[in-house]
Amino acid sequence: MRFSAEQVAGMLLEPGARSGALHRQLSEGLGDLIDLGEIPPEATLPSERALAKALAVSRTTVVAAYQTLRHEGRLERRQGSGTRVTASGRPGDRETVSARALVGEHAGRSFVHGAPPTIDFSTAALPCLDLVPDVAASLTRTEYAALTQTHHGYQPRGLPALRERLAAMYTNDGVPTTPDQILVTSGAQQALELITHGCLQPGDNVVTEAPTYRGALEAFSLANCRIRSVPCDDHGMEVERLEDLAAIRPPRLIYVQSSVHNPTGSVLADDRRRRLARLAERHGTVVVDDTALVGTLIEGTPTVSIAGLTTSERVLTIGSMSKLFWSGLRLGWIRGPAQAIARLAQMKGMTDLGTSLVSQQIGVHLLDRLPDAQATRRRQLAEGLATLTGLLTDHLPAWTWQRPRGGASLWVRIPTDSVTSFAHVALRFGVAILPGTAFSPAGVPDDHTRLPYALPRGALVAGVQRLTRAWNAYTDGHRDLPAVGVRT
Ligand SMILES: Cc1ncc(COP(=O)(O)O)c(C=O)c1O
Repeated sequence: MRFSAEQVAGMLLEPGARSGALHRQLSEGLGDLIDLGEIPPEATLPSERALAKALAVSRTTVVAAYQTLRHEGRLERRQGSGTRVTASGRPGDRETVSARALVGEHAGRSFVHGAPPTIDFSTAALPCLDLVPDVAASLTRTEYAALTQTHHGYQPRGLPALRERLAAMYTNDGVPTTPDQILVTSGAQQALELITHGCLQPGDNVVTEAPTYRGALEAFSLANCRIRSVPCDDHGMEVERLEDLAAIRPPRLIYVQSSVHNPTGSVLADDRRRRLARLAERHGTVVVDDTALVGTLIEGTPTVSIAGLTTSERVLTIGSMSKLFWSGLRLGWIRGPAQAIARLAQMKGMTDLGTSLVSQQIGVHLLDRLPDAQATRRRQLAEGLATLTGLLTDHLPAWTWQRPRGGASLWVRIPTDSVTSFAHVALRFGVAILPGTAFSPAGVPDDHTRLPYALPRGALVAGVQRLTRAWNAYTDGHRDLPAVGVRT
């Protein structure tokens, strides 16, 4: 197994905070990856020059780090075949390695860690709406007592009252739905897991957008599916490209985000969603329409979901309360044909016997406040978006983005061929960003990042200041910059 410099640089974004000389931090970071089996015995490492470039450090730093690891007996140099991990290295878990390599998972920390505290631009999680504690506190003892007396507590399909509410919501939105077409899940992530295990076999072909939600890529790659991708622009997935792909080999499942797309914030155009619905009917493909972000629409009103445009029995719609209300509720759902929902409910029962009924009871009441919640979220996100785009326009004019119609992040193009390398420099200046490659199956250019805007104004200002200093240092070609004092 041969690791490219970009792969190793991406993996080194994970191990966490270190201090001391750079070459020491690097040898420790690499040593941890070898011990964990992420870089397995006998794997070939990139050349010193290539790794130095990917990490934005000097070649001497990598030479010294490799030398330390050779002295420790973890690396060896073979004439003609470069630097390899010794055969006696820890065995590790090859499954984990392949899944990580496929997804390009990065946790946004580096072997070289900036002076703490780091501003975390690597997550686009949303803050909880004030409404949530208010509503949770308004539930009375009588109501909890009624809940505990009516149900023994195990409800794999979900609380009937919540399923009824969700079904009515779809029906009002033009997609007639009955409660037996709804399965409540522990967040949209569990919905994805259940669908993956219920609908896919190892080796099945799945098509996603590129970029797309990382959690979906992780679910499909851990199930050993083959992931192909279709680009998306500011009108969502390029469905014409999907038609070309499907004409060669129809996919078993198409994963799309039609309502608001993570990470680009685009909304799938009406003509494209109709073509996608027709394509699914023609090929009998399962379509998973992940609408988890629909509550984060900043511009316009939600359009009819794909399920409303087809009679196909193979469309599964995923929803979530995480983005509009709070992810800590762990409330999501799947809407689909009753038979498929019954099968998925069985699997859900085997997985966790059901989602918290207390959380679901709060969820029912939160849905009473839907218009309030949507207005508050829209205002917050519009402000954050204006702040971040204003700061980037002023301080980083070479960075470009497409204007999102919703969501909590900006999909930013950075004029470099290695955002992974720049991410290491950014960390030295106290801001964590994720390379855009983490949001796509392998093989896309490393020239994007996702910047969140659902953060307090102070964090956005300080984060962009740090990114600006990091970008200036990076474009000036500085190498081995010491961890810079962080001023906010
Ligand atoms: C598109 C998409 N789907 C699903 C999820 C998972 O959400 P949940 O918190 O409901 O599990 C996320 C979270 O970021 C997401 O962005």
